[in-house]
Amino acid sequence: MRLSGKKFLVTAGPTVEAIDPVRFISNHSTGKMGYAIAAELASRGAEVTLVSGPTNLAAPEGVGRIDVVSAEDMFLAVAGLWPSMDGAVMCAAVADYTPAEPSDKKIKKGANPDYEIALKLRPTKDIAAELGRTKRTGQILVGFALETDDEQANAMSKMARKNLDIIVLNSLRDSGAGFGGDTNRVTIFAANAPAQSLPLLSKSETAARIVDRIAVAIG
Ligand code: CTP
Repeated sequence: MRLSGKKFLVTAGPTVEAIDPVRFISNHSTGKMGYAIAAELASRGAEVTLVSGPTNLAAPEGVGRIDVVSAEDMFLAVAGLWPSMDGAVMCAAVADYTPAEPSDKKIKKGANPDYEIALKLRPTKDIAAELGRTKRTGQILVGFALETDDEQANAMSKMARKNLDIIVLNSLRDSGAGFGGDTNRVTIFAANAPAQSLPLLSKSETAARIVDRIAVAIG
């Protein structure tokens, strides 16, 4: 199904939250799933903007990429683009917390070897929830849920909380699914439709099946 003339925003990769100029908090996301979705949308004729945290991946053919580092950078880039989009697919593994007081100088080790330090963290903005809050009629919002337990219940409550139209559940309990690899096994939940469990597939085949569902939803 073609998506010519449709404008999509895709977030991908991790965010990186500075502790000081040399240290950071991040996660294991490589960005592969989000880049595969951006490539699939573009191959069907959509105009795609990829807002990406730091990854080692090249932007897919025909996809415009905006590079960001922190959750706050990603929020600002995405919030500005959303009003002009037909849909957004939120694949990024956004940090939920960021250092409350990042230091502009390298934090030095104390002289006492037993000295413990604590890092104060503050919550980041939930980007998907913000898009859900400001979603217009006709816009499609797709999120991912990465869960280790109570997968389906957690995914359904995320879908409601963030006002998503589709949520793609990734369970870290499935072998072949999750961070880094080239395969994934997901279940797609959409409002008013039965859950669709996909078999273990390459990330690009998984992306094609997810985009099929998006194309149906967008009509
Ligand atoms: N997400 C986002 N901004 C955040 C956190 C998450 O846009 N600050 C998006 C992710 O891109 C994903 C969805 O929200 O599409 C769910 O992310 P996930 O990390 O599974 O959920 P959280 O909301 O962080 O909840 P929890 O950590 O409690 O599972």
